[in-house]
Amino acid sequence: MSRTTKGQMKTTLAVIGGTGREGNAIAARFAKAGVRVLIGSRDAAKAQNAASALNARLGAAAPRVEGYSNRDAAAQADVVLLAVPYAGMPPILEDIRDAAQGKIVISVASSLDPERKSRAKPPAAGSVTAEVQQFFGDGVKVVCAFQNISPEKLEAVEEKIETDVIVCGNDKDARATAIDLIRCIGVDAFDGGALANAVAVEALTAVLIAVNIKYKVRGAGIRITGVPRV
Ligand SMILES: NC(=O)c1ccc[n+]([C@@H]2O[C@H](COP(=O)([O-])OP(=O)(O)OC[C@H]3O[C@@H](n4cnc5c(N)ncnc54)[C@H](OP(=O)(O)O)[C@@H]3O)[C@@H](O)[C@H]2O)c1
Repeated sequence: MSRTTKGQMKTTLAVIGGTGREGNAIAARFAKAGVRVLIGSRDAAKAQNAASALNARLGAAAPRVEGYSNRDAAAQADVVLLAVPYAGMPPILEDIRDAAQGKIVISVASSLDPERKSRAKPPAAGSVTAEVQQFFGDGVKVVCAFQNISPEKLEAVEEKIETDVIVCGNDKDARATAIDLIRCIGVDAFDGGALANAVAVEALTAVLIAVNIKYKVRGAGIRITGVPRV
């Protein structure tokens, strides 16, 4: 992945479900960092409205965010970030199946117990990320990231995020590319190893929700210690 002369990433990022709270906040952070961001939605007009609202909020300094159908956004992107609820994923994966081939897909979803979101409920494949990887097959490199950052933290685009991101997936180069991309928004991202480990990252979401509830806070996060920060 290359950079512009200003040091910005020359990546086009599609945020599938970028109309929702988590995806929209992630889109805002990347646009602010100078990445070309395409918001995807099941409804292209809804995506265009979300992009216009984001452009108005970010001002002229950030590149213009664009809105498309999920499939068109994925087709134009180098990296596809999936920010839709786990329960609603199957038709969306089907819709972008061809457009995602040959690309990196970042899955931000966790599978939580619908009855109580402070409880993890991993799917049969072990994690949502593993299920997404199974769906796409070897032509797509799927990694997990962002499960442990709340939209509250991401939306405050002027504030530094203290929570770390852990990236897991079976392809070492895809993990490295995702980490490089995520670091451009000022978040520390760490290589968490193989796809089999995504279950831990996703289950941590339920742990953080339980912490939020217990301590009456919003946006509890995690921090890796013992590793030098670059
Ligand atoms: N919220 C958090 O605290 C948080 C934190 C970390 C990670 N995440 C993950 O981020 C993802 C998005 O979370 P969110 O809170 O932003 O979700 P959301 O607002 O409920 O949904 C995001 C977008 O997905 C589409 N969508 C919603 N329900 C759908 C359904 N049943 N079927 C198909 N598409 C549907 C909608 O887009 P269109 O109508 O435009 O297609 C919606 O704007 C989830 O996988 C979640 O696990 C969330």
